[in-house]
Parts: sequence; C-alpha cells; structure tokens
Amino acid sequence: MRQFPAFFNLEGARIVVFGGGEEAARKLRLFNDSGADAVLVGGFEDVALAAEFARRAETVARADMARALDGARLVIIAEEDAGHRARALAAVRARNIPVNVVDQPEDCDFTVPSILDRGEIVAAIGSGGAAPVLAKSIRAKLEALLPQRVGDLAALARSLRGFVAEAIPEKTARRRYWERAFAGPAAEAAYAGDLERAEALLRQQARLTGRARGVVHIVGAGPGDPELLTLKALRLIQEADVVYYDRLVSPEIISLIRRDATRVPVGKSKGDHSVPQTEIHARLVASAQEGLRVVRLKGGDPFIFGRGGEELEAVRAEGIEVHVVPGISSALGCAASAGVPLTHRDHAQTLTFVTGHAKEGGVPDLDWPALARPAQTVVVFMGVDTAPVIAEKLVAAGRAPETPVAVIENGTRADELRVFGTLAELPFLVEEEGIRGPALLIIGEVAGLPAEQGRIASIVTEASGFAWFGADARRPDFKESAA
Ligand SMILES: C[S@@+](CC[C@H](N)C(=O)[O-])C[C@H]1O[C@@H](n2cnc3c(N)ncnc32)[C@H](O)[C@@H]1O
Repeated sequence: MRQFPAFFNLEGARIVVFGGGEEAARKLRLFNDSGADAVLVGGFEDVALAAEFARRAETVARADMARALDGARLVIIAEEDAGHRARALAAVRARNIPVNVVDQPEDCDFTVPSILDRGEIVAAIGSGGAAPVLAKSIRAKLEALLPQRVGDLAALARSLRGFVAEAIPEKTARRRYWERAFAGPAAEAAYAGDLERAEALLRQQARLTGRARGVVHIVGAGPGDPELLTLKALRLIQEADVVYYDRLVSPEIISLIRRDATRVPVGKSKGDHSVPQTEIHARLVASAQEGLRVVRLKGGDPFIFGRGGEELEAVRAEGIEVHVVPGISSALGCAASAGVPLTHRDHAQTLTFVTGHAKEGGVPDLDWPALARPAQTVVVFMGVDTAPVIAEKLVAAGRAPETPVAVIENGTRADELRVFGTLAELPFLVEEEGIRGPALLIIGEVAGLPAEQGRIASIVTEASGFAWFGADARRPDFKESAA
C-alpha cells in the first residue's frame, strides 16, 4: 500500500479549489454533502456552472488567493493554465496545506479516490494515480453488490447507538448484536424501505440481548459414582437450563439433571468425534447468549485431559461469564477405589499424569527416561490401545519389567474392573481381560500395595472369617470386580 486511506471529517472545514472549468466543478461537487465550506479561487466563465455554484462556493479572485488559503484544510488545484497552476502550487506549498494537483501525480500530497457514496456508507477505491480507470471499474462492481439503502441502515444504526449501548453495556455482546442485526430481518426491512419496522426490530432485539445474562459453568462430574459429585456440581446441574455432557458422564449423574432442562450429549469416543470441539464451543456460547444457565458437564476434572481449558478460553473470548467447578479426576477416583495410594513415603515421591493417546493417533512423544525413573507413579489416561507400546518404551528406558501395574476400567462405577500385574504383563492383562475402557493404567510400586494388603487380609480371613476380595496380584489372570 503506497498511500494510506483515511476519511477526513470536513464539517465546517475550509477547502479550496483552484480553477474555472469543468474539472474544478467536478471537484467542487465531491464536497457537496460533506459540510465543508468550499472556496473557488478563479471563477467559472460558463454561465451554467457559475449558477450551479453561486450559493455553494465562495468565489475569490486569483489575486486574492492568499486570503482564500488562510485556514484551509485541503486544496485541489484544477487549473488548466500552467502559469496559474504553478503560482497556486507555490502559494499552497508555502503554507504546508495538503494538496492535490489534477493530472500531476508528482505534485500531489493526496489523490482523490473513486468514491462509492451511499450516505453514511462510503467506499473509496484508490490506485494512487496508477490506474484510475481500473479503480472506477472496481467501484462499479461494488455498486452492483451493495444494497441501495445500505446508507439508510447505517443512519438508523447511528441513531440507535446510544440506546443499544445502554441496553447492552458489555462490549463483546454489543458487537455480536450488531453483527446479527446487519445480517437479520431488521436489515432486510431497511433494505426494503421499511425503516420503521427495522427500528422496532433493532430496539426489540437490543432489549432482549441486554436482558439475557447467560452464564456457563464448566463442571467436573467425577469418575462416575454420583456420590463423588461435589455439592456445587450437584447444585449447578439442578439449576441449569441446558446441560452439555460428555460420554464419560455416568447415566446416574445424568439422571440428576433438572427434569425440564435440555440435555445435550456432545460426547466423543476415540475416533468418533460426534460433535467437533469448535461446534461445542459455538453451542455453549449461543446458549449463554440466549440468556440460559449453561452447564458443560465433563467426566472427572475438566482441566485434566478434558479440554476444559479450550472451552474456558472460547467462552471467555465472547465476553460471557464463565466458571470452572473442579471434579474428582478418574485418577483419584480409581486409585481410591482400588486402594492404590498414588504417592507413598516408602514407594513414590513423584506422581505424573500422562496421556497415552497422541492428538494425531498412536503414542505421544513422552519423556520416557524421566517416566522410567524409580520411586514414582505414572498414571496413564487413554492408554488402553497403546498399552503394549507404553510398556515396551518404559522397559526400554530402564523401568523394571516387574514394576507393579494396575488397570482400572469404569472406576467407581457399578461395573468397575480392576486388574493387577507387572509392566511386562501389561499388554497381556489388557488383552486377556478384554479391557476396552474407559480405563486407567497405574504404573509404579504403589500399584502392588493392594496385593500385599490382600495377602495379609487373606491370612486374617482364614483366622477370623473376615471376607476379602484380594488375591495374588502378580498373576496375570487375576481379576477383581467391585462388589
Ligand atoms: C479425555 S480423558 C478425561 C479425563 C478426565 N478429565 C478425568 O479427570 O478423569 C478420558 C480418559 O480418562 C480415563 N477415565 C475417565 N473416567 C474413567 C473411569 N471411570 N475409570 C477409568 N478411567 C477413566 C480414561 O483413561 C479415559 O480414556
């Protein structure tokens, strides 16, 4: 872009045109509706032109040009005579006033674009003097595209700006209101010439939008057991107008949603993205903009491998009130349910959560040597399919093949399944037990503790008749279903 386009406010400004022919008249006409005070230095010999501008422009003799230029904002020199032109240019340059000299691009501070004028809506196509005819033909194409009454719509919008700002104080919501207004029935009414109806529609929509104070709560539903919901989560799902929920949210929890609320499943299973993430964002935003109390209910905790962060950003970006309610992550729920302490002073000083599923499929590029270090627990989410590769990579990076492992499927639910074994046995455990998920892999010495306790409990049981589900966790065929 060689020239910077800008729209000048000329209301009450002095603009000076030099000349006395048709070109000077053309330039003066450009300023007809601008509110500028036009001055013609020179004068029209043509009687018709003189009559046309008699009231619209003050005429000053060339000898008086100094007076005419006093306080001028812009100057256009449309003199055909080279001598007149040179004297005018020298006088203007001496006063540093921006000038356009017709057909003399090298002397111009600004060029006059090809103008499409629809009242409040003005488009200016410039070529910097390179190809004015091309600029004109582009303008003609735009003319055909723009509704004739677009200026009326803009004028109506101008007259309603104060009302709309008061009705919708929040800036982003207001921007969205205008976007919808200019594409909706109010715009159509204005284009059809019915400005009264257009105004009524715009006012009504602004009142509705202003009253709508939607809010989104991104809520963790925990791993499945409804008793593991937080009190806050329970209250919010019973107050919500609409609940968007994941596949991982258990039916028992869904049954707690207020009966007359709208329930929308947006769940994903691996490889089956039933509702794309961007579509989920759009639906959350649209519901809140309708003034609804929206709950986005997610399995476990929303911020642990749950895309809660992306949803928070998307909703916040639209200026909508949004809150996050944590949930019990499946890592915590499964560990508690299986009696696996994720940290332990004797066995695990570090706890790491990783995903076993890369965005583009397969195993993600993890720091295997760091994960293979002893005295730590590694919890793998979404690792059922990739369990064999995960086990192989960890052993190759130095983790002992006999490191205990627990696989917990449907943790905290009625159909929970727990399988214990070693890292070397992991692929076998998953395959043999037909684990399909949702399941977690807990890798580390702590995964062996339930088995240890089970052995002790078995001894106690023999002596006291106490019932215990435990068995030798190192056997790959060991399986324990929750009672
Ligand atoms: C997309 S992640 C969501 C994790 C969730 N935000 C959380 O904090 O638990 C889905 C993975 O979580 C794990 N998961 C979720 N619920 C589970 C459950 N009840 N039992 C076992 N694993 C579960 C599985 O590894 C599943 O593939």
